[in-house]
Amino acid sequence: MLDEIVKLKQEMLEKLENIRTSKELEQFRLDYLVKKGPLHALFDRMKTVPPAEKPIIGKELNLCKKEVEDKFRLLKEQFDEQEISKATIDLTLPGRRNSKGTYHPIYQTLDKMVEIFVGMGFSVASGPDIEDEYHNFDALNFQPDHPARDMQDTFFIKSDREDILLRTHTSPVQIRVMQSQKPPIRTIMPGRVYRNEAISARSLAEFHQIEGLYIDRNVNFAELKATMMVFAKKMYGSDIKFRFRPSFFPFTEPSAEMDITCYLCGGKGCRVCKHSGWLEVVGCGMVHPNVLRNCGIDPEEYSGYAFGFGIERVTMLRVGIDDIRLLYENNYKFLKQF
Ligand code: PHE
Repeated sequence: MLDEIVKLKQEMLEKLENIRTSKELEQFRLDYLVKKGPLHALFDRMKTVPPAEKPIIGKELNLCKKEVEDKFRLLKEQFDEQEISKATIDLTLPGRRNSKGTYHPIYQTLDKMVEIFVGMGFSVASGPDIEDEYHNFDALNFQPDHPARDMQDTFFIKSDREDILLRTHTSPVQIRVMQSQKPPIRTIMPGRVYRNEAISARSLAEFHQIEGLYIDRNVNFAELKATMMVFAKKMYGSDIKFRFRPSFFPFTEPSAEMDITCYLCGGKGCRVCKHSGWLEVVGCGMVHPNVLRNCGIDPEEYSGYAFGFGIERVTMLRVGIDDIRLLYENNYKFLKQF
């Protein structure tokens, strides 16, 4: 049996000597080192060896096993290392993409606006998207027959009450803030609003607004104008021009809208500003005495202004798109550009 051991050992070492690839090495393992292979067979035969010879034969067999296995392990390590270094120097491998998320363009605009107003001393408040007619219309001095309440303009929600709706503007949050805080109040209220509009490149049934409210003693229209102008310069650039136009909102008196020079065409006139050179960016005005009264604030003692910006149109201009629907389709290829 000793001879057989020596012979097998030589055979295996010779084979190992000539192995050039990891595939050949694997074949060697399958041929010699598995349970059913010749090495194991010799170990099995140890049972039949006379006790006197066992120490010598056993020692020789163990030596053979060790030598072969050591050599095998060494070769295996070499091949493994080669595989790894081959992989690390493959310069043609495409790099791993780091797909980090980005803020949605609407929220980039919103965040920037919030940052500017917070810098001007405004705090931030929010209110529910699902409102009642009282907060969305009545308390804001809308008359009972105001057309905005119409089912055609407002999404009413089926429930056991008939006055539940999706808010059509962020102005109901003004009411909630004034009813829960005492003046002075200086707050902005960003949020999502809903209107029953036909969906097109220019309008959607849901969009975003940012509301502002300032209530204190002796607040006047000049302060409102100044605040809007300072904001506009910070937001749209210091060379921007603006104009105020008289307007109407049930909850402000007097009311105005502010336009800025279209910053796509610089005021020359383009498709986005409908060739007027101007873009309407905010509705605003002095809070109507009825609204203050509805919130338990004495209009003889306090006055205030309110404003409401739309977010989507400004965002479209900022990122240079002419279809509002792109902002809501959540196409990753679109969103990741910003
Ligand atoms: N809520 C008005 C709108 O949706 C905007 C606005 C807010 C106007 C505050 C004046 C004061 O059009």
